[in-house]
Amino acid sequence: NRLNRLRLTRLAAPAVAALVALTAGCTGSTVQGRPGASGLRDPYFPKAGNGGYQVDHYALDLGYRPADRQLTGTAVITARAEQTLSSFNLDLSGLRVDAVTVEGEPARYNRTGRELTVRPRKDLGKGEVFRAEVRYSGTPRPLTDADGSQEGWITTADGAVAVGEPVGSMTWFPGNHHPSDKASYDITLTVPQGYEAVSNGELASRRDTGDGRTAFAWHSAEPMASYLATAAIGKFKVATSRTSSGIGVYNAVAPGEEARSAAALGRLPEVVEWGAGRFGPYPFATVGTIVVPDGTLPYALETQTKPVYSGAPSVELTVHELAHQWFGDSVSPKSWKDMWLNEGFATYAEWLWSEDHGGPGAQKRFDALLAGDTSFEGADAAHWDAFPPAAPPGPEDISEAPVYYRGAMVLQRIRQEAGDERFFDLLRGWAADHRHGNASTADFTAYAQQRTGRDLKKVWDVWLYGEDSPKP
Ligand code: ARG
Ligand code: ZN
Repeated sequence: NRLNRLRLTRLAAPAVAALVALTAGCTGSTVQGRPGASGLRDPYFPKAGNGGYQVDHYALDLGYRPADRQLTGTAVITARAEQTLSSFNLDLSGLRVDAVTVEGEPARYNRTGRELTVRPRKDLGKGEVFRAEVRYSGTPRPLTDADGSQEGWITTADGAVAVGEPVGSMTWFPGNHHPSDKASYDITLTVPQGYEAVSNGELASRRDTGDGRTAFAWHSAEPMASYLATAAIGKFKVATSRTSSGIGVYNAVAPGEEARSAAALGRLPEVVEWGAGRFGPYPFATVGTIVVPDGTLPYALETQTKPVYSGAPSVELTVHELAHQWFGDSVSPKSWKDMWLNEGFATYAEWLWSEDHGGPGAQKRFDALLAGDTSFEGADAAHWDAFPPAAPPGPEDISEAPVYYRGAMVLQRIRQEAGDERFFDLLRGWAADHRHGNASTADFTAYAQQRTGRDLKKVWDVWLYGEDSPKP
């Protein structure tokens, strides 16, 4: 591609020169590229992500010293320009940028807030594939979310863990941090000897660097939204196994959490195979777990292939986070407004697991919530009806009860209308047709109508978009 560009540039040079001569003294800029937008206008996080390009691949080479919390990173971003670009933005919060190159040539850059603007020496042509390299360093700091919780690079008792939902990944690497731009990843973590370093996908190599450190190279071939990227550094106990169909399992558990985690992790292969039976083939090459010390985080996160749990998980919690591998990770939301496509489905998966294992079924849990009984779900489900799941009032609401529970109830309403056979065909079809892609709520409602052959307008009006609390 670089060769192509050079050839094109050479051919076009006389024409460009002529144009420049023509426009000199007029606007002076008509032949130049435009800056890429500084955000993708997400309804809840308008500055998240950037316009004008799509990332194909991130190669992150990160060194971390737990003792003084120093991160030294090189991010090589391979992207495709979607317009002629005079400059483009990356999202990055905190840290110090030491150098930026584009196509191997030093590029100018400046920072405003969480935006890093890169100005390549030459404009990038529409359709051109380019490599941007950012060298950076410093002590990563987490962000405080609209709902008051923390995300990003979080220090643990013996290391660190990165959790990015919704916009925390910009605290540890520069990128196009919006779920609509998915890419493959190679994440190499170099840490002092004696530490384990865990990330998404498969461990391609583990080697001593010769200077008292160990480099762990992790590879994710399947597309991943950046909020699902993770890095966990600590004195984990690592255990590997396989599911009955041969999917590799890599579990990393913080010291002290092993005994309490054993029961749930022992059933993880079974949960994955159960999910494949209900939702269709597991979307990734491998699966696993990261258990960080209890109390590190107020939530778990479905980081791709290796969900992060804060302390030992229950089986139900692993069912939720593993269901996200199909719904959220493989089929990712187009915008943060579509969060119920993640959480409603993962919550529904818990109901189904219960139904398939002798517990209260989805209909029973639906009925209980509708009657104001939260005994199956816990007290935080009480406000399941506070707002419509497809329209949270603000960014602080995207992880609130209606997105989870009323989202699951939308699915149960579809099941009531369509019957079991068509409903389960819909779940599998949705996961298959949008595998490794992105989808919006409108995509789902259209798909559900078409796939089930039912008119579901009332379900959407009352349960998905309705401002009023649905009546029994
Ligand atoms: N997606 C996570 C889960 O339900 C929850 C993340 C909550 N994040 C937050 N910042 N409150 O598995
Ligand atoms: Zn969830």
